[in-house]
Amino acid sequence: MKKVILTILVLLFISALLSCQSSSLIKESADIRDNAVNHAIWAMSAHNMQPWQVVLDKKNPLALDLYIDSSRLLPATDPYSRQIIISFGNFIAVLEDYANSKGYSCEYNLFPEESLLESSNGENYTSSVARIVFSENEELKEIFRIDSLSGATVKRHFDPVIFNQAEKNELTDLSEFDDIRIFILQEEDVISELKTILIDSFSIEMKLESTLMESFDLTRRSEKERREKAWGLSYLGAFPASTVGLVEFFDRTFPMKPEKWGEIGIKNYISEIETINSYLFINSKNNSRESQIHTGIALQRIWMELLKRGYAFLPASQPLQEYPEMNELYTDVHEKYALNGETIQMIGGIGKTDRKYKSGFRISAEKIIQNN
Ligand SMILES: Cc1cc2nc3c(=O)[nH]c(=O)nc-3n(C[C@H](O)[C@H](O)[C@H](O)COP(=O)(O)O)c2cc1C
Repeated sequence: MKKVILTILVLLFISALLSCQSSSLIKESADIRDNAVNHAIWAMSAHNMQPWQVVLDKKNPLALDLYIDSSRLLPATDPYSRQIIISFGNFIAVLEDYANSKGYSCEYNLFPEESLLESSNGENYTSSVARIVFSENEELKEIFRIDSLSGATVKRHFDPVIFNQAEKNELTDLSEFDDIRIFILQEEDVISELKTILIDSFSIEMKLESTLMESFDLTRRSEKERREKAWGLSYLGAFPASTVGLVEFFDRTFPMKPEKWGEIGIKNYISEIETINSYLFINSKNNSRESQIHTGIALQRIWMELLKRGYAFLPASQPLQEYPEMNELYTDVHEKYALNGETIQMIGGIGKTDRKYKSGFRISAEKIIQNN
């Protein structure tokens, strides 16, 4: 009898512990800004660098400021921090979706300060990215996508999908910005040229020492590494949950030389791109910092909508990268898929996937929010 009671007590203790752990994944706070940031950390960012810092306004309980964390830039892959700034748009889109779902609208004032940060190539840009203010609003749209972020990001084993015109419009209409043009390409002859550009540019990124090493060094290969450095890349979106542990174990036990790692990456990428039939483009009329933020907002909304509908999205930024070795393909992709003067800010493949993957990893909201 004693044994039975003891077992029940132990089971009750374990289940209390587990429920405590799962509810602490996203902690609810009395401050809407804390809750919004707790969700926004799951936004997409270039190389998952999560370059954002948040400062809560002490005087206004509905206001916060966003800054760039200059220790999390991508000097080799993204020398002008174009992708980093886009990532702030992603963050803002989730803040907005969360606020809307709680009955608040979200106003954002971009680049409010003059403070300048020197990027790796000497160009100056402001380190203060946006001031965000929430306000109660009873007449908000009823469509929220915030829950879509609770699943895993999947980047492999896509099944092809072809959208009809109405579905295409539903996705591309998610941007209300005049400086942004979004379209989806699926025609066989058009995408076959694109696939060649995507594969060639990925090969450049994986063979050039500076960009290869940036990705190689940022890849986290165990839970421990992901806890200690909770930004960067991993294999979680590339291998199903059932095998990723084993893949990581082999990678740690028999470490590959970066060149070999790059070669395998190229091989896997080719098979992925060959399967994907549907490619989304986000082009901006100019390449201003504001249009980069607008790109990120549109991208995040589209990504969440795709997740909500059971699709996966594989960003393919390589031909848009701005270093000399990529110049030729950058020009080629713009000549083929941009109108005069436009900058292509994002290309991504869309597919279906039903395999089970583990969720990604992020820096906690507590660490993102600065207490000054
Ligand atoms: C501007 C931008 C560019 C990106 N480029 C790529 C890319 O070229 N290839 C890729 O696999 N993911 C790309 N991503 C996605 C991120 O690497 C990452 O998958 C995303 O932040 C989700 O993180 P998670 O996979 O850890 O959940 C990009 C994201 C952003 C915002």
